[in-house]
Amino acid sequence: MNTTSSTARSNILIVDDITKNLQVVGTILRQAGYAVTPATSGTEALEGLREQLPDLILLDLMMPGMDGLEVCRRLKADPTTLQIPVIFLTASNEMEHLVQGFEVGAVDYVTKPFNPPELLARVRTHLELKHARQRLREMNDEKNEFMGIAAHDLRSPLNAVKGYSEMVLEDAALGAENAELVQKIHEAAARMAEMVQNLLDANRIERGEMQLHLVPIDLAAAVSDVLEAQRPRAAAKQQTFHWRKEVGPVPVLADATVLTQVIENLVSNAVKYSPPGKNIYVRLNKSVEKVVCEVQDEGPGLSTEDQKKLFGKFARLSAKPTGGEHSTGLGLSIVKKMVEAMNGRVWCESEPGRGSTFIVELPTA
Ligand SMILES: Nc1ncnc2c1ncn2[C@@H]1O[C@H](COP(=O)(O)OP(=O)(O)OP(=O)(O)O)[C@@H](O)[C@H]1O
Ligand SMILES: [Mg+2]
Repeated sequence: MNTTSSTARSNILIVDDITKNLQVVGTILRQAGYAVTPATSGTEALEGLREQLPDLILLDLMMPGMDGLEVCRRLKADPTTLQIPVIFLTASNEMEHLVQGFEVGAVDYVTKPFNPPELLARVRTHLELKHARQRLREMNDEKNEFMGIAAHDLRSPLNAVKGYSEMVLEDAALGAENAELVQKIHEAAARMAEMVQNLLDANRIERGEMQLHLVPIDLAAAVSDVLEAQRPRAAAKQQTFHWRKEVGPVPVLADATVLTQVIENLVSNAVKYSPPGKNIYVRLNKSVEKVVCEVQDEGPGLSTEDQKKLFGKFARLSAKPTGGEHSTGLGLSIVKKMVEAMNGRVWCESEPGRGSTFIVELPTA
């Protein structure tokens, strides 16, 4: 008898309208050390789930009333039962329905009459896979939590460095040489604070903790503000923003902070990856239902290969910053998630050597 700790604790639900099958399969599994719960119909099985969630379900494909396909469909539609592996029990003349079984989310099947070693092998494999998936999810959650804590705790010492270096800079007795060094300390701390903020944002989105407050916002005003804030960076590279400030209000349904962050990312990329002296065009187009915001640059553009990776995490592609700026490769992955959370879309149109245009589409308010 196999009674290793993992199998001994695993609970298996068997659903079959024929009692004889329940007995046969139940005996094979019990002898192997599993706990077994029988159910003689789909309805009975689904009801039983409210009291106890099994680790795995063996489900008869053909049953009177609710058939196995329908039961499986419901299990996969419910987040509480979605992760439970379902193995179909089929007669050899039902093979044609198996494809549908996989389509509705089953992981495997066994054919009647049952071959005990085969049944047990499949059950064991899928239980192991389930446990491995569970462990991976837990490890990923732990990693995200750790990253969140680390990034969060770095914020206050960084702000202290930023704040104190600013104070020292105001000291008139500081010589020019020292002032330059303190200025560098201040800039480095500011850059680090920005990176930490990006990591925190990415983490928050991944953990589904981004809280959005969607209200009507004037996109034109938001763009003007971002361009104003980014102007010194562009001016340092003799780049020119082209923007018709007098477009008038363009209301979109969005979260004010998040919207600003999205535009800021796109404009700062245009500045960061364009060579000195180039133009950056920002345009808005409104229709009845949607507003489109375009940020066009005359930078290096993106190959088809690069475009595929563009919105992924830690994507540092062929284009490199042209003025010694920092690049983490997180900006656009955050932009994409943020835009989608505001029920919008973002994409890029570009050809190598011919600049890039980033386009954000948001619902009109
Ligand atoms: N306007 C652009 N023109 C050409 N390449 C670009 C442009 N914007 C982004 N890229 C490329 O895509 C990559 C990913 O951009 P993303 O904004 O996600 O990260 P990043 O700018 O490297 O770092 P950060 O996290 O600070 O934003 C960049 O490293 C760059 O190679
Ligand atoms: Mg960026």
